[in-house]
Amino acid sequence: MTVFICGSTGRLGRSVAKVFEQEAKVVAPTRQELDLRSKDDIKEAIEANRPSILINCAAWTDVDGCEKNPELAKDINATLPQQLSELSKKVGAHLVHISTDFVFDGKTDIPYNEKQLPNPLSVYGKTKLDGEIGVGPSATIIRTSWLQAQDDSNMVKWILENFKKTGPVEVPNDRRANLTFVSDLLPVIKHFAESRYEGLVHATNRGTTNWCEFAKFIAEKSHNDPNRVIPSEEEKLNRIAERPAFSALDNSVIREEKIDPIQHHQDAVLGLLRQT
Ligand SMILES: NC(=O)c1ccc[n+]([C@@H]2O[C@H](COP(=O)([O-])OP(=O)(O)OC[C@H]3O[C@@H](n4cnc5c(N)ncnc54)[C@H](OP(=O)(O)O)[C@@H]3O)[C@@H](O)[C@H]2O)c1
Repeated sequence: MTVFICGSTGRLGRSVAKVFEQEAKVVAPTRQELDLRSKDDIKEAIEANRPSILINCAAWTDVDGCEKNPELAKDINATLPQQLSELSKKVGAHLVHISTDFVFDGKTDIPYNEKQLPNPLSVYGKTKLDGEIGVGPSATIIRTSWLQAQDDSNMVKWILENFKKTGPVEVPNDRRANLTFVSDLLPVIKHFAESRYEGLVHATNRGTTNWCEFAKFIAEKSHNDPNRVIPSEEEKLNRIAERPAFSALDNSVIREEKIDPIQHHQDAVLGLLRQT
């Protein structure tokens, strides 16, 4: 079995390779080895390797950058997935495409399930939705949110570092969503890739939160003072793109498929704190 991974140097893609390495040949080119804006090079790479699974973790995830450069956003987030879909059909690969909670407008306070209609607010969200449409009904589309990679800077580390300093720990509190620890997402990706599942899957850790609540939880569990956490408004950060205020995802397909539910983010944090 050959697994081909696009976006193999990203927060998620880096770890996806490791999950399949034991049992498959993994082809995971870097940007230097394969520019994903070059249609000819992508075609050549996929036709040469003829993977049975193709996982697209590549994206342009700079939400404000996408607003400023919609053409580049379209190339990577929308056109590329469509091309990958065509190529995967040609070589008989199952395509797993990673998408985002930003396809929703956030005008609710009930977590979105896979049947609900998207309505993106930003160029990033719109191009990611176009990417979902481009991969079509035969691919697995996994929507996730607030990815936290253990091998990189993540919000747990950031909050703990800030508690080592003096003064308030200022975190935004104007968006609610779900965290997703990469290590908890990997088995889900593997399951749906190997079962060649067709359709949308929402995959996040359980527990809707905002960064303020999350920082207070970490404070309590790491013997820091939760009262040092104060809300900052995201607007202060001069963000260009509009973000959904509420984009929690209901993992209803995971429940229906009866695979192990993804643990609550608080359990994931407690596990991380035990390791520090
Ligand atoms: N991060 C989040 O919180 C979050 C939330 C919801 C959904 N998602 C989705 O999850 C997926 C993975 O996100 P991530 O955070 O892992 O993304 P990331 O860290 O920004 O990684 C993106 C990957 O795409 C590659 N890439 C982009 N343009 C390329 C090009 N022209 N040629 C070759 N490679 C290119 C990057 O290569 P370089 O390393 O060379 O730049 C990198 O490997 C994406 O579909 C994203 O939309 C992410």
